[in-house]
Amino acid sequence: MGFVIAVDGPAASGKGTIAQQLARAYGLPCLDSGLLYRAVGVTLQRAGGDLDDAAQAEAAARAFDAGALDDDALRTRAAGEAASRVAVHPGVRRALRDFQMRFAEQEPGAVIDGRDIGTVIAPGAPAKLFVTASPEVRAERRWLQLTAKGEAASYDDILADIRLRDARDSGRADSPLAAAIDAVLLDTTEMSISQAADAARRIIETARARWEKSLKG
Ligand code: CDP
Repeated sequence: MGFVIAVDGPAASGKGTIAQQLARAYGLPCLDSGLLYRAVGVTLQRAGGDLDDAAQAEAAARAFDAGALDDDALRTRAAGEAASRVAVHPGVRRALRDFQMRFAEQEPGAVIDGRDIGTVIAPGAPAKLFVTASPEVRAERRWLQLTAKGEAASYDDILADIRLRDARDSGRADSPLAAAIDAVLLDTTEMSISQAADAARRIIETARARWEKSLKG
């Protein structure tokens, strides 16, 4: 495996921005794995399917087409909600696993952000971050993001969404959202996004030095 950076964490924790900045800094391709779940949810919804039906959701995930990831409709609040509902089905997670694992196997490495990258998709990744922030701070960031894109939503509704998504992503024994035992925890509650990105960069630099040393053996 090359230099794989796994960036996991709950909704709107800043993991996407951090992942993109790390990818730029190290010249690595970046995958936002949430987009895969968003694509499955949105495709199923457009076809009139039932997001809570495990068989329908799995069939949509098996038909997943990576070419669909550029669609702006995947970035809306409704798409996040649809993603969170299809992501609870184990068959959906299985169907999307290979694509993510192949992405992680690229040379010279990759950056992937999500929920279970450090635990399931790339447990051997030499660098793992688990990015968190309080639900209130995450709701504020998501509100700013959505309003900047022209999507009207109240702060209270977004906070309720975030709490519901946290519960869906971490409520069960097989829930995806869990920090890998060797992940470094980065709590960004009191940080601006640029401070968070700087802190992430320092953590990953340490991991990179350790990884390079291990390669020299
Ligand atoms: O930015 P935000 O966390 O709101 O959205 P996202 O990362 O695009 O994830 C949307 C939903 O997809 C999450 O609430 C999870 O339920 C699901 N997801 C997942 O289960 N596993 C991943 N690796 C990524 C996303």
